[in-house]
Amino acid sequence: MEEPTSMVLFLMGKNQFVSAILAMEALTALTFCLIVLQMLIESSAVLVAGWHRMGYRYINNNQSLMSKELENQIRKLHGMVGNAVTSGKYILFGAGSTQLLNAAVHALSLHHNASSPPTPVLASIPFYTLYKQQTDVFGSSNFKFEGDASLWMNNSDSNNTNLIEFVTSPNNPDGKLNKAVLQGPNAKAIYDRVYYWPHFTAIPASADEDIMLFSISKLTGHAGARFGWAVIKDETIYQRMTMYIGVNTMGVPREAQLRALKLINVVLQGRGREIFEFGYKTLSNRWENLSQTLSVSTRFSLQKIGDQYCRFFHKVRKPSPAYAWLRCEREEDKDCYAVLKAANIIGRRGGVFGAEDRYVRLSLLRSQDDFDLLLHRLNQLVLEEDKIKTMPIM
Ligand SMILES: Cc1ncc(COP(=O)(O)O)c(C=O)c1O
Ligand SMILES: *[C@@H]1O[C@H](CO)[C@@H](O)[C@H](O)[C@H]1NC(C)=O
Ligand SMILES: *[C@@H]1O[C@H](CO)[C@@H](O)[C@H](O)[C@H]1NC(C)=O
Ligand SMILES: *[C@@H]1O[C@H](CO)[C@@H](O)[C@H](O)[C@H]1NC(C)=O
Ligand SMILES: *[C@@H]1O[C@H](CO)[C@@H](O)[C@H](O)[C@H]1NC(C)=O
Ligand SMILES: *[C@@H]1O[C@H](CO)[C@@H](O)[C@H](O)[C@H]1NC(C)=O
Repeated sequence: MEEPTSMVLFLMGKNQFVSAILAMEALTALTFCLIVLQMLIESSAVLVAGWHRMGYRYINNNQSLMSKELENQIRKLHGMVGNAVTSGKYILFGAGSTQLLNAAVHALSLHHNASSPPTPVLASIPFYTLYKQQTDVFGSSNFKFEGDASLWMNNSDSNNTNLIEFVTSPNNPDGKLNKAVLQGPNAKAIYDRVYYWPHFTAIPASADEDIMLFSISKLTGHAGARFGWAVIKDETIYQRMTMYIGVNTMGVPREAQLRALKLINVVLQGRGREIFEFGYKTLSNRWENLSQTLSVSTRFSLQKIGDQYCRFFHKVRKPSPAYAWLRCEREEDKDCYAVLKAANIIGRRGGVFGAEDRYVRLSLLRSQDDFDLLLHRLNQLVLEEDKIKTMPIM
């Protein structure tokens, strides 16, 4: 499922730059900033000649479907940010991380024994809805979506059964740095780490799981480029996933690879300071504004996220999640989506994430205008609470 999310993140960078420029008084500084702005816009541009790279494969990379240069830049990026260990691991490209989700499920369930039931695919509630949708749509005799991972935690079968667990860290919708709940010898985790970047979360350690997924859509906001990558420890799993991508789409478009290369190179310039600092500042401000607005409410509550030490910024930093996971606290507000909708606020209902409809996810990755409107409308809802509370009892 497409998430209309972070495209704006990149655009916002420009807007913020423009307002910063307007605030500047000295004309010389203004001229300089305009030049920098122009450079930024141009440095991430890609122009492709009609005859360029028409074939399926990279002849200078052993006929591979993947650009070696892009792979090297991805390793460099993870090294610079310190968010994932890539040395001694394989990297595989996909059409967004979306394509890699099922590639991983396929690879992990191949050892399946035809006379035993399908391998359960599990996740912790609340979970990203695509795990279920994909597994249902692509379902084979090898695997089946079975929902809540914690139900298998104390199950005596769980040590003898092969299990596949999706672990989303930070989680969509609640931003938590989740860990696998299933630890048995036959439990395999797919770590969806698409939000594990300094704009959305502290980076407490370099992630080192066996299968980790990332995406340009959450790194720079270029969701429509459809480019993601997997970092894979085990060679057999890497080969099975490679086979899946080959059979499914015969690799990722070269245009997408070229664009991703260009974008990652821009991120690498200046050691990522610009985009990560901008993203962190914007999202932590939004979280603060939202928390402040709801702090006086007894009707709505937000997920709790603490301050945490970040190895990228070398400091303790505030929360800056991509989404708010709002809960309607009143007994009668069982349909929180409807409560907000009536106030002209459109979120995504809790049921979509396997949770109660008492929860709603609000996106904090939209344009500043959208966010300001959201805040304004929430504020009105909270003010109404006060009126009701202070109404004289007849
Ligand atoms: C947790 C999670 N995983 C994966 C994706 C898929 O992103 P993409 O296919 O653009 O990489 C999303 C998109 O919203 C997401 O939230
Ligand atoms: C191509 O394959 C050979 C043999 O496997 C290897 O030694 C070489 O490093 C590869 N070249 C590239 C660019 O990956
Ligand atoms: C398949 O699994 C069943 C039990 O689930 C077991 O009895 C049988 O030996 C297995 N077959 C193979 C080829 O592993
Ligand atoms: C599983 O067992 C642990 C420890 O006994 C307990 O804390 C936990 O609540 C149990 N989980 C479930 C889903 O029953
Ligand atoms: C599963 O195996 C581990 C050891 O690998 C053991 O500690 C645990 O108690 C077992 N769990 C169950 C539910 O049997
Ligand atoms: C949002 O928070 C920032 C500080 O984080 C503050 O400067 C700004 O005034 C707040 N905006 C609103 C509308 O509350």
